[in-house]
Amino acid sequence: MAGRLAGKVALITGGASGIGEATAKLFAQEGAKVVVADVQTDKGKEVVKAIRAARGKAAFVKANVVREGDAKRMVAFTVKRYGRLDILFNNAGVENSKPEVETSIQEWDKVMDVNVKGVFLGTKYAVPEMKKSGGGSIINTSSIFGLIGSPGFAAYHASKGAVRLLTKSTALAHAGDQIREGQGLPLLTRQGLFERIADQIALAGRDARAGRCESIRRVAAETEKTRQARDLHDPVKSLRLEFRQQLAQYLEPAAIEG
Ligand SMILES: NC(=O)c1ccc[n+]([C@@H]2O[C@H](COP(=O)([O-])OP(=O)(O)OC[C@H]3O[C@@H](n4cnc5c(N)ncnc54)[C@H](O)[C@@H]3O)[C@@H](O)[C@H]2O)c1
Repeated sequence: MAGRLAGKVALITGGASGIGEATAKLFAQEGAKVVVADVQTDKGKEVVKAIRAARGKAAFVKANVVREGDAKRMVAFTVKRYGRLDILFNNAGVENSKPEVETSIQEWDKVMDVNVKGVFLGTKYAVPEMKKSGGGSIINTSSIFGLIGSPGFAAYHASKGAVRLLTKSTALAHAGDQIREGQGLPLLTRQGLFERIADQIALAGRDARAGRCESIRRVAAETEKTRQARDLHDPVKSLRLEFRQQLAQYLEPAAIEG
């Protein structure tokens, strides 16, 4: 199958659903041989079946990105199956919408483990294989929530901020090995982790976007409202306004899907 990724081999974590699934299908359509790695066996195999039905090449490996043995195994599986590894998409992720005071140690650890340790382990075992074949690309899924704060999502924000800097650090460490490192900063998709709150955030985003398009005066007025809200000691109102202003800085008209 000819395409922009013809001859490339890609390993995608969290490839059984959402962004990972869509990427796996697109990469295969562009000619890559794709390995879907996920904890969800049935869904992962369905993705592989769909890719093969469209004449693409794909295989599934069950892997929990938090476990070092699994990270090692998914990379070894890819190399054994397709002979090399050109692209690693560290995409598996989980969310938690609680603020600090409501987050348990277990919830914190789970988010940090999957979202940060998973990226670290995937990278750790992919880099040596990429070096063997003269280079490669590593893509990590951070988030708009790795750039801005919001009320709640304490562990999630911390994890995605960590992924952002881990990506930069890996890029610098391996630039000389012809390994490129990049990150995705998705805002919001209607399927996947944030299905539950997509409409709520889309509304906030639409307002923020309108604010951005109108004029600088409107942004200034919002800032003034934030200051006033703070003065009124209404932390919730103040934070919501601040969140919308921060979001507005990153929104482009097409940033929200749907
Ligand atoms: N959907 C959004 O709006 C959005 C926005 C910003 C960032 N993201 C990020 O995009 C990535 C994909 O999210 P999505 O929305 O497609 O969610 P999703 O739930 O559809 O997909 C996540 C996948 O990761 C897998 N997974 C979870 N824990 C795992 C583990 N320990 N080992 C292996 N696989 C594991 C799940 O089984 C699932 O298939 C995540 O990193 C998420 O934080 C999503």
